[in-house]
Amino acid sequence: MDKIRVLSVFGTRPEAIKMAPLVLELAKRPEFVSMCCLTGQHRQMLDSVMEIFELKAEYDLDIMEKQQTLSTITTKTILGMDRVLEEAKPDLVLVHGDTSTTFAGALAAFYHKVTVGHVEAGLRTYDMYSPFPEEMNRTLVGDIARLHFSPTVANAENLRREAVQGDIFITGNTVIDAMKTTVRPDFVFANPALNAMDFSKRVITLTCHRRENYGQPMEDIMSAVRQIVEKYEDIEVVYPVHLSPVVQECARRNLGDLDRVHLIEPLDVNEMHNLMARSYFIMTDSGGLQEEAPAMGKPVLVLRRETERPEAIAAGTVKLAGVDKAEIIRLASELLENEEVYQSMAKAVNPYGDGTACARIAEAIKWHFGFRTDRPEDFKV
Ligand code: UD1
Ligand code: UDP
Repeated sequence: MDKIRVLSVFGTRPEAIKMAPLVLELAKRPEFVSMCCLTGQHRQMLDSVMEIFELKAEYDLDIMEKQQTLSTITTKTILGMDRVLEEAKPDLVLVHGDTSTTFAGALAAFYHKVTVGHVEAGLRTYDMYSPFPEEMNRTLVGDIARLHFSPTVANAENLRREAVQGDIFITGNTVIDAMKTTVRPDFVFANPALNAMDFSKRVITLTCHRRENYGQPMEDIMSAVRQIVEKYEDIEVVYPVHLSPVVQECARRNLGDLDRVHLIEPLDVNEMHNLMARSYFIMTDSGGLQEEAPAMGKPVLVLRRETERPEAIAAGTVKLAGVDKAEIIRLASELLENEEVYQSMAKAVNPYGDGTACARIAEAIKWHFGFRTDRPEDFKV
């Protein structure tokens, strides 16, 4: 083998943000042929990331349809990947995280007996229905993959306890690499609502989209946000609403009439990171935001019952608020009223990486394929 042929498969917004810097890192190294296959599980939100990172995909399965089921996403990806794998002939397929694209991409590669590398491996709640279906997706990919790139020590320990086969590397999270190019103090927002926003006021960034929150939990979260805004007259809430029709409907019905709640289209990643960097704090059920906000020194209230990202909770910048309305209001009020509590959470910590995860992953792949003799060192916090 004179070059390692790597096919990176992804399809949703968070996967794209976290895989883009890795695809670019591999592309600039002479040992690799770096190729991309998009499933298109998300269309607009994915294309926006590709544009920002100036990435072009060699393959695009373009599977997105409105309101499609998990089974449809999974089967269309597996079928589409058959042809791509025949043509691309990769030595390694890289998948990321825990989406339906991740699971189906890994399974398709296995059917073709192509080695799978799992980026962001080993995150667990050990509750198979929460997050749903992500906990099962990442657990199954843990069985299929032979190269496991874990962001943190705790993630690697989960995999060792499960006795997964293959090699585990602790690399940090590639999202911290991505943030090196997105966050800028002189950034000017293109979004008119953000451009007009007075950031000397207290701005809360809100996101909420997870499937296990659909229904009553999401109703309660929205209702809590409504009460917080009504209670504190000086705050503004910015909510870039996920394009899922379920989420769109719930957000607009509950919060659409409030002047100080800005329901806006999903932001491109540059706008999003710079909005977070200028916010007072973050309320979210997103995985990615839980990793990004601590690096910016922004407190986070997690709108979920559990998290697979305990590191920032241990560091004190993230609190698990849950989905109970009274508790969400209590914790947000505490952050808004108690300066001491706020300052204790508003400290920049980097438990998720040092911005060199992509280089570590590239070196680990080289080691696996015999392009270097010594095993690369793990990331240490
Ligand atoms: C998916 C992932 C989830 C991840 C989330 C990030 C799965 C099972 N879940 O959830 O882990 O946290 O992405 O955002 O893979 N839509 C559009 N345009 C877009 C994107 C989505 O219209 O650009 C619509 C789709 O038509 C679909 C709905 O949003 O009906 C939901 O998308 P889907 O990919 O099924 O799941 P997510 O909830 O986004
Ligand atoms: N994000 C974005 N625009 C938005 C909302 C989020 O670019 O309007 C980014 C965010 O900064 C993070 C990623 O998307 O990098 C997280 O995606 P999401 O919350 O959809 O998924 P999760 O991380 O929960 O899987």
